[in-house]
Amino acid sequence: MVRIGKIELPEFPLLLAPMEDVSDPPFRAVCKDKGADLMYTEFISSEGLIRDAIKSRKKLDIFDYERPVGIQIFGGDEESLSLAAKIVEVTNPDLLDINFGCPVKKVALKGAGAGVLKDIDLMVRLTSAVVKSTSLPVTVKTRLGWDDNTRNIEEVAERLQDVGIQALAIHGRTRTQMYKGSADWTLIGKVKNNPRIKIPIFGNGDIDSAEKALEYKNRYGVDGIMIGRAAIGYPWIFDEIKHFLATGEHLGSPGIEERVGVARKHLHKSVEWKGPIVGILEMRRHYANYLKGLPNIKEYRARLVTLNTEEEINSVLDEIIVRYEGYSFEKTPIELINYHENCPVD
Ligand SMILES: Cc1cc2nc3c(=O)[nH]c(=O)nc-3n(C[C@H](O)[C@H](O)[C@H](O)COP(=O)(O)O)c2cc1C
Repeated sequence: MVRIGKIELPEFPLLLAPMEDVSDPPFRAVCKDKGADLMYTEFISSEGLIRDAIKSRKKLDIFDYERPVGIQIFGGDEESLSLAAKIVEVTNPDLLDINFGCPVKKVALKGAGAGVLKDIDLMVRLTSAVVKSTSLPVTVKTRLGWDDNTRNIEEVAERLQDVGIQALAIHGRTRTQMYKGSADWTLIGKVKNNPRIKIPIFGNGDIDSAEKALEYKNRYGVDGIMIGRAAIGYPWIFDEIKHFLATGEHLGSPGIEERVGVARKHLHKSVEWKGPIVGILEMRRHYANYLKGLPNIKEYRARLVTLNTEEEINSVLDEIIVRYEGYSFEKTPIELINYHENCPVD
């Protein structure tokens, strides 16, 4: 069992990564159904929360069926992060996560360079301020370092543990690397194997299959794995990995009815939470992901993204089930998009 404060997670938990514009409550609902053990909100600007920005406040919505769930904040200023932590605490998540992957303008203006990752002392001060201002377990998600010359995650991990964080998730890339190349888990493994480190260490970056999850689990010894892009349009990744780790056998690829069923639920939750207009608009970018691999799906996709009611969309989804009944998805690989993090800066 893996513990974060009072939260008890199963042996080798699988975490859904925080993803801006993706890991909202509708998406989290389907990932929870398919085996995510711990999930996070999209990142929330601490300045936005304090200013009462509607977008930031809305991201605080969490539901009991999602638990355990963490709220992620970011910021470059001790005072605003502390205040934001207090606002977050009122909404009663299971944990509070700090994102240290983003360049924050304020920090740059104060001469600390373009990002907190360049200034470990600042990162430690910010983290300590958050830990002191909340009774929630505080966790951190970060990258290996700023660039190839500052891959300082080993020092960062020790120092953040010393100021009281209760788990650390590490994306195996540097900030300047963005999404280029492949994630390097070597340093993640070193952090995990440092005898000084007692908190759970979660590895993150490029996990897109059950085999890779098993290989990285064994090779790097991490306490659990965080999965981002592979879950987009394919939340089954969680159950598939769990099944493979437990039995050494592959779960079959979900068929068309199952895929459409999950897309339907995603749509329904989206409408429920965002309202019919925004809910339907924002769902449009997800259909292609759920229907990936189907031959001649373009025409259906084109219809799905022009319809304006849940009922009409559901009837096209019904047609898709009939048209592709029995289709085998076995050979459709998961593609990881090359995402350009666009951190909203106040
Ligand atoms: C669309 C998208 C949005 C993201 N937004 C966030 C975010 O809000 N907070 C964060 O810590 N990381 C964010 N990330 C980074 C992911 O959490 C994760 O670290 C990264 O995608 C690597 O994991 P993966 O290879 O499993 O996708 C985002 C990634 C993507 C693809």
